[in-house]
Amino acid sequence: MNKPARRGIDLVDFLAKELELLKAIHLYRRLPGPLEKPPRPGTIINGHDVLLFSSNNYLGLAQHPRVKATAVEAVERWGTGSGGSRLTSGNFVLHRQLEERIARFKGTEDAIVFSSGFLANLGVISALVGRGDLVLSDELNHASIIDGCRLSRATVKVFHHRDTAHLRDILLAERKSHRRCLIVTDGVFSMDGDIAPLPQLLQLAEEFQALLMVDDAHATGVLGKKGAGTVEHFGLEGRGIIQMGTLSKALGSEGGYVAGNAILVDYLRNRARSFIFSTAPSPPVVAAAMAALEVLEEEPHLLDQLHANVQRLYRGLKEMGFRVLPTASAIIPLMVGDAHHAMVLAAALAKKGVFVPAIRPPTVPEGTSRLRITVMATHKPEELQRALEAFLSAGKMLGLI
Ligand SMILES: Cc1ncc(COP(=O)(O)O)c(C=O)c1O
Repeated sequence: MNKPARRGIDLVDFLAKELELLKAIHLYRRLPGPLEKPPRPGTIINGHDVLLFSSNNYLGLAQHPRVKATAVEAVERWGTGSGGSRLTSGNFVLHRQLEERIARFKGTEDAIVFSSGFLANLGVISALVGRGDLVLSDELNHASIIDGCRLSRATVKVFHHRDTAHLRDILLAERKSHRRCLIVTDGVFSMDGDIAPLPQLLQLAEEFQALLMVDDAHATGVLGKKGAGTVEHFGLEGRGIIQMGTLSKALGSEGGYVAGNAILVDYLRNRARSFIFSTAPSPPVVAAAMAALEVLEEEPHLLDQLHANVQRLYRGLKEMGFRVLPTASAIIPLMVGDAHHAMVLAAALAKKGVFVPAIRPPTVPEGTSRLRITVMATHKPEELQRALEAFLSAGKMLGLI
């Protein structure tokens, strides 16, 4: 008699084959060797001293003495966890202080904090639109926006990257047959480092009575005179743009937020499921984010230093003949094309002590594999120089320049 099929074993077999397939097409992911020191420009990965060009800790605030001390104080005073959702027992004085601070920083009436940027996107998009509504999303938007759109059950149309003529065509064809409409875009695109054409998007939003939302994950602490992001960069404060962002990148902490008018925020407190049904962010991360915002206000030279470092590295790579995309953010994409070649270049750089990960599909479209170089305000001139030398020799060795 045949034994009944053992489903668990079949599953393992299926998963192992899927993993083999990923390896065969060079899309298998493994965790990089763990960092043994904090994500500073000079760190230790897998036992090797490396220069880090891959952290989103753009201003170095995750290691700033005041940010760290404030987080430690918060642990001493409040403990390590909040122990409840904001709507139950997890609503500390600290959370509200952070929200008020974010609202001031962003120039909005109010703000709401989530446990991560990913959760903020899921929560806000699925709360604002639903069946019968329309979402228009840039094709290079972050995965959390894509998932938020899917979760909402609204009709989702994707417009070509930064292409407002294409967006207009879709609005003309689709807007009338839908109730509410949301246009959503990254402010700074996470893998390309370029900036959304926010003024033109706003014009279309106003013309077609749509909401406009910008994800400032990579723009907060990077764009604008005070680092408030894409809206500040374009001088569009007070124009009703919904500003989502994260505390986990330039602000050196964790958590996401949505800043906008008071009614919007009140609505999200009532309707954003990832806010309602999730434990409130922990005291140290809330306190750290608040301290980071204070440091940003008091040390604006950090922003200047960041941009000077980005331009120095960009110009150096361009002069060597690498295909680098121009950038006004902290992200420099070095285009390679083929996924395997991108991996080989990253490995060659790692051997020379420079850590820059290769980014491959499905994170980026097929044929656009690249190295995603990120720069920090805390990189020293000699570290930038050493990195450039490593790029030059790896690029020559692999025939890329
Ligand atoms: C554009 C963008 N939005 C949202 C997120 C999610 O933010 P978090 O890492 O805080 O969950 C990220 C980060 O990976 C991002 O790059």
